Amino acid sequence: MTALSPLRLRRLAPGESGELGAALAAMDPWRTLGFSATALARYLERDDPALRRLVAERAGRAAGLIALRNPWLRGPSIEVLAVLPDARGGGLGRALVEWAAGEAAGSGNLWACVSSFNAPARAFWARAGFAEVAPLPDLVTPGHDEILLRRRL
Ligand SMILES: CC(C)(COP(=O)(O)OP(=O)(O)OC[C@H]1O[C@@H](n2cnc3c(N)ncnc32)[C@H](O)[C@@H]1OP(=O)(O)O)[C@@H](O)C(=O)NCCC(=O)NCCS
Repeated sequence: MTALSPLRLRRLAPGESGELGAALAAMDPWRTLGFSATALARYLERDDPALRRLVAERAGRAAGLIALRNPWLRGPSIEVLAVLPDARGGGLGRALVEWAAGEAAGSGNLWACVSSFNAPARAFWARAGFAEVAPLPDLVTPGHDEILLRRRL
């Protein structure tokens, strides 16, 4: 995979939510936050017209996932962003964020959340132009803070 590969986004294929839910449940932040593969699969496939859930393909295989809620707060919110472990470090995460920024064009803001313990992701979001604007204690799981992130567009 290279950073120059074009971004290919598609909807989840039938039955793919189980596989992707299991992949998310095995990685942080979802592992530490205590999400089950089943709960994540349900999130990926439930009826929710304001939430687009898209898979990024590289070399014909699922390599990343983005869930974008739009509208949210004067701009959309990235609810889930994940690059599968063997696809990391090649620009796919950044490409997904830039795709979301394109979807948000004209709305003024792009939002996300990050768990306070997720230091690698906090560095990633900072590199992508997001400011940490508010702590959200115990938002998802008691004992863990989320941090609201804002990129002004
Ligand atoms: C965070 C994540 C999406 C990054 O995806 P990626 O494809 O590896 O990131 P990219 O290759 O696009 O990196 C973009 C930039 O972020 C930086 N970055 C990426 N991972 C980093 C890390 N672990 N530590 C520090 N910087 C990092 C890169 O160095 C790059 O910087 P540059 O602009 O100077 O080149 C991916 O590691 C991931 O899915 N992690 C697990 C799930 C997760 O934490 N999701 C976010 C939940 S809020």
